[in-house]
Amino acid sequence: MNEDSLQNQIEAAVGYENLLAPALFQQWTERVLDAAQILSGDRVLDVACGTGVLTRKAAGRVGASGSVSGLDPGPGMLAVAESLAPSVDWRLGTAESLPYEDASFDAVVSQFGLMFFADRYKALDEMLRVLVPGGRLAVAVWDSLDNIPAYAEEVALLNRIAGEKVANAVRTPFALGARADLKKLFEETTASSVAIATCTGTARFPSIRTMVEADLRGWLPVMGIVLDEEQIHSILAKAESALARYVTKEGTAEFAISAHIVTGSKS
Ligand SMILES: C[S@@+](CC[C@H](N)C(=O)[O-])C[C@H]1O[C@@H](n2cnc3c(N)ncnc32)[C@H](O)[C@@H]1O
Repeated sequence: MNEDSLQNQIEAAVGYENLLAPALFQQWTERVLDAAQILSGDRVLDVACGTGVLTRKAAGRVGASGSVSGLDPGPGMLAVAESLAPSVDWRLGTAESLPYEDASFDAVVSQFGLMFFADRYKALDEMLRVLVPGGRLAVAVWDSLDNIPAYAEEVALLNRIAGEKVANAVRTPFALGARADLKKLFEETTASSVAIATCTGTARFPSIRTMVEADLRGWLPVMGIVLDEEQIHSILAKAESALARYVTKEGTAEFAISAHIVTGSKS
């Protein structure tokens, strides 16, 4: 990777950390760690760690007697993660081929990554491989777009004015929302005691403009799509009226957003 391209990826990851993490991702960390029953002293792996939102929280929970590793294939994401928590063991890699020995972790957690994995079954198989017998797994994915109207409306707008490729990049995070499909995927693995809990959170952005801008500048580049400034300004202007019903009295954008947390353990 050349230096310009790494710099672009770091800028996108900084946008992700500053805009998307506080608005959407930080609020799930305690729930995912509770679901995996993370306690002081545990050895924890965070798969698809991004900028390390969940990894940092896990490090705080396990304390000095535990250890935490974060893995992601995005060099920009990992550069930001490392700058925020240098003492964590950050690894560049994919979920489908985890660079760890068998039975290295007491718990494996992952939030909002599974939908992007090229081979989800292989990734889950790998997560189970690196767990000790009896080790705990907790994986969070977004509910389907049918249950999150604000994003369904944003995707419809993008489809109309920016085309299917851009719309699909924003649709992908919701691809594992159907509980039946999710259940089937986990039941095909060797995980035992599989359970799915659907939980509601709140998306909170400073404005509609920031919400959509976070996707255009913070998320699309992670998915390999860079729009020009003219396109970004035109989309933002249209989004402000299309999504006006999510604007609060204070001018912020807020709406309910739900996610499934799947838990299981290694036999
Ligand atoms: C929406 S972000 C979630 C990041 C983080 N877990 C959080 O809660 O902020 C999805 C992450 O999945 C990562 N990802 C995509 N494909 C992957 C793969 N095959 N293996 C591991 N991570 C992957 C991306 O690089 C990205 O950082």
